[in-house]
Amino acid sequence: MNVQTIQVNVPAVEKDAYPIAIGEGIIPEVLSDVRSKRPKLRAFVVTDAAVAGAGHLHTLLGGEKVGTFVIEPAGEASKHIGTVTAIVETMEKAGLGRDTVVLALGGGTVGDIAGFAAAIFKRGVPVVQIPTTTVAQADSAIGGKTGVDSLISKNAYGVFWHPAAVYIDVRTLTTLDERQYRAGLAESVKHAAILDAEYFEWLETHAETILKRDMQVLGRLASMNCTIKASVVEEDPTEKNKRRILNYGHTIGHAVESASGYELLHGECVAIGMAAAGQIETELGLVGDNRLERIESLLKGLGLPTRIPADLPSARLIDLLRTDKKAMAGRPRFVLLERLGMALCRDGQWAHEVSEDTVRKVVKQMLDKQ
Ligand SMILES: NC(=O)c1ccc[n+]([C@@H]2O[C@H](COP(=O)([O-])OP(=O)(O)OC[C@H]3O[C@@H](n4cnc5c(N)ncnc54)[C@H](O)[C@@H]3O)[C@@H](O)[C@H]2O)c1
Ligand SMILES: [Zn+2]
Repeated sequence: MNVQTIQVNVPAVEKDAYPIAIGEGIIPEVLSDVRSKRPKLRAFVVTDAAVAGAGHLHTLLGGEKVGTFVIEPAGEASKHIGTVTAIVETMEKAGLGRDTVVLALGGGTVGDIAGFAAAIFKRGVPVVQIPTTTVAQADSAIGGKTGVDSLISKNAYGVFWHPAAVYIDVRTLTTLDERQYRAGLAESVKHAAILDAEYFEWLETHAETILKRDMQVLGRLASMNCTIKASVVEEDPTEKNKRRILNYGHTIGHAVESASGYELLHGECVAIGMAAAGQIETELGLVGDNRLERIESLLKGLGLPTRIPADLPSARLIDLLRTDKKAMAGRPRFVLLERLGMALCRDGQWAHEVSEDTVRKVVKQMLDKQ
């Protein structure tokens, strides 16, 4: 073949950094802060009907007229590509261009949808994340994963698009429904279990005040979660290896979520998944301490489940585990603990293959017989 080859050297991604501001009642200052830092950009807000209905959109805008897209219905049902095209086209109709900054005000679904829309609008404009749920403040607003679901799977469309800034106003959590509030706390337990034993202890002693939504305690919770998640993301921004530890509790968790037909909330399933990971560690002879009791007791104290509902089809669960994104050659892989506060790393790997027999045994043990 007579071909001429020209090599194009693409420089490594620019070094970048973004601030996370955490406080109580800070939302009214966000718009002016964003404008002062990016005076040439025009703001466009994406939120959802429930967040707007709870008054947070009004608090953010303070009566100012700013281009806004309100996702309806709120929640996972709207996390599809149709919502993204509607947002992009609304921005175009408003005459916005590359001089746009998108403000994502809401939970993880709003953050994922708006972040993805910002990433593809005119080849990418900045997004500012303003998370309003326990899931989003602990997890989804930080780390740059954005995307939407396809008809076949969750987050099938997606890119890494790191936020330009994150503003966490813990006061927004006061309007969140109790079940959603508790479910999101599972991600905090996850962070503590994989990386920080002292934080785990703090969660144990503060479980009651966390459930009472004490503002000071919530501020500390947010800052611990952000510090831990940021440290993992900084080390492995595109999940080539260590970032996988954030999937602790998510292997069986995702399968339970899907088998429940999304009746169970994500965080509830992660709680079940962490308890399951502990049972697997026990089966593999990796546990010489009382960590499983402590994890289960903290989860229960936070009002989270630790058993698989008995009516869930276990055969379907096993099937789903074979197709989990961490599975290799149909064999599911699990993030496990070395000890409380430290995930297990073997031969440089953070996700571990577990035999189907062991998984079946654990699933059987975990089915709630009561
Ligand atoms: N990008 C990531 O790294 C990442 C990480 C974890 C989860 N996620 C994604 O996040 C989504 C789940 O996020 P979520 O649990 O925040 O769900 P969500 O955004 O659907 O919020 C849950 C419900 O609470 C409402 N709500 C949000 N904030 C409120 C408030 N302050 N007051 C009253 N109501 C409020 C929402 O409108 C919605 O109805 C999933 O799609 C998941 O895939 C992404
Ligand atoms: Zn999660």
